[in-house]
Amino acid sequence: MSERNQSNEQPPAQFHTTAHGQIYLGDSLALFRDKIQPKSVDLIMTSPPFGLVRKKDYGNVDAHDYVNWFKPFGAAFHSALKPAGSLVIDIGGAWISGQPTRSLYHYELLIMLCREFGFHLAQEFFWWNPARLPTPAEWVTVRRIRVKDAVNCIWWLSPTPWPKASNRRVLQPYSDSMKVLLEKGYKPMLRPSGHDISNRFSTDNGAAIPPNLLALAHTESNSAYIRYCKDKEIAPHPARFPSEIPEFFIRMLTDRGDLVVDPFAGSCATGEAAERTDRNWLCCELVEEYIAGALGRFQEKTHGNGNGSGKSDKTAKSQGDSSYRIYKPGSMWKTADHEPLAADGGAKRQPPKLKAAVLPPVTKYPPHPRSSQMALLEAHKNQRSSIGTAKRTRATKQKQHG
Ligand SMILES: C[S@@+](CC[C@H](N)C(=O)[O-])C[C@H]1O[C@@H](n2cnc3c(N)ncnc32)[C@H](O)[C@@H]1O
Repeated sequence: MSERNQSNEQPPAQFHTTAHGQIYLGDSLALFRDKIQPKSVDLIMTSPPFGLVRKKDYGNVDAHDYVNWFKPFGAAFHSALKPAGSLVIDIGGAWISGQPTRSLYHYELLIMLCREFGFHLAQEFFWWNPARLPTPAEWVTVRRIRVKDAVNCIWWLSPTPWPKASNRRVLQPYSDSMKVLLEKGYKPMLRPSGHDISNRFSTDNGAAIPPNLLALAHTESNSAYIRYCKDKEIAPHPARFPSEIPEFFIRMLTDRGDLVVDPFAGSCATGEAAERTDRNWLCCELVEEYIAGALGRFQEKTHGNGNGSGKSDKTAKSQGDSSYRIYKPGSMWKTADHEPLAADGGAKRQPPKLKAAVLPPVTKYPPHPRSSQMALLEAHKNQRSSIGTAKRTRATKQKQHG
């Protein structure tokens, strides 16, 4: 790990500049103090160090102290933002050490920012990463008492209730069922929820308004950023978000030429997204090695596509504009409540199961074994052929009589 510039006495040092942005090495509190005018920023887009229980090597703050640690940043962010600006925080949840329960730290952070600094919660988003591993293994894959934690919360906050925004910038293709509905038409009706679904819902607007769930597998393995890090023997940042996450909010919440700041920049994914969307930007990071690697996102020729975009990545390409599939909760419900739940909630490890937990579906009538199905089929065929014989005999007799 390279040296840290941790003192916020010193102003952060400019490390790199691009057509639209600047990367600073140092403490972002000093960046706000020395380099950023009050009410000058349109969007603060960031992913702070998470209060993870199992500490990562970039020095996470413990969950209990997290909210207090964040307060000076809350104050700096509030005074730097324009009144119609936005603060977007991507933050992962955390497990409490040694027990299968969750920390409340990221909810406490949200409440503190609203109560103490007067931020408004414009909307909460969730980033679903379908490639997330089933951890902690002890709760998820060994004792099987929790499910995969596959979403990060994204808090979209603003100093006023009216941050500038347009969902027209982030439209997505219609789902297959919506396409059918648009083709066949929709019968206006009053839903049981009281919503009056008028025939305006069957107007084809060319694209759909996205939900507040952003589905993006984090599987970057061959982007310009990763290739650059490999070339320079730099370890890629261990807690990146895909640059499409900041790009979504940059597009929805800012105009070209606006100022975007990422105070916990890591590998500068925000800078990359701002650069390719023609926004001005500042990124600040404490650890030099991370921004040394971030330069891979801003290489013109040597590493391919002129930016570190995941779009040069094989996996991102194969994801293309496709969507992910998530099963309805009921799809396998018939299979497995034969086995009683552990009365102690899984506090004691159970001996490993011999068979997989997925049992054959329980149906009301047990299915016929193949041999009896064949017998039924045979009987049915015989019955049909005897009906046919009877009909033919009747017809012959009628002919003879006629
Ligand atoms: C979760 S990571 C951000 C990752 C980033 N979103 C990306 O995609 O690469 C948080 C980063 O904040 C940095 N950091 C922590 N405190 C900081 C501070 N006071 N000033 C600047 N950076 C800081 C950490 O070194 C870490 O790299």
